[in-house]
Amino acid sequence: MDATQYLRDDHELLRGLFQAIRETPPEERRKRQELVDELSEQLVMHELIEEEVFYPALVHASDLVPQAVADHQHTREQLALLQSIEPACQTFSEQFEVLRRTTEEHFAEEERVLFAAARDLGRKELLRLGELLETRKRQLAESPEERAVRHFNRTAWKVV
Ligand SMILES: [Fe+2]
Ligand SMILES: [Fe+2]
Repeated sequence: MDATQYLRDDHELLRGLFQAIRETPPEERRKRQELVDELSEQLVMHELIEEEVFYPALVHASDLVPQAVADHQHTREQLALLQSIEPACQTFSEQFEVLRRTTEEHFAEEERVLFAAARDLGRKELLRLGELLETRKRQLAESPEERAVRHFNRTAWKVV
């Protein structure tokens, strides 16, 4: 699959998770927590594969890559903060909205500018990058060590 299509599908999956968390009331704290864990895992993997595979291919095509990497650092900080908050409280909902807005804006900018710039790479290269993205994502999803790293933010209050 073409790299931009692959990443666009990933964005849709993440948008769906944001929406599901939004629709889960505070009383359902276990469900909120599970969804945030899933979001965290998927979002961190998405950002990593972009940084490892997709962005390096675009360095000469777009001067927006450094900004995109900075956006990722920002979302990861916001995600870590969200994971440190009890899911049933108001602060959680507020922090969740901050993360959601930042991430949605980043996705929109990426789709509008970076994916457009990527078209200059040509179809063959985009297919090659798409395959690399898919392989790297599978590796990350299946590796127990990587999983442990993605869950580094777990805190003591969490439901077990
Ligand atoms: Fe990104
Ligand atoms: Fe992205």
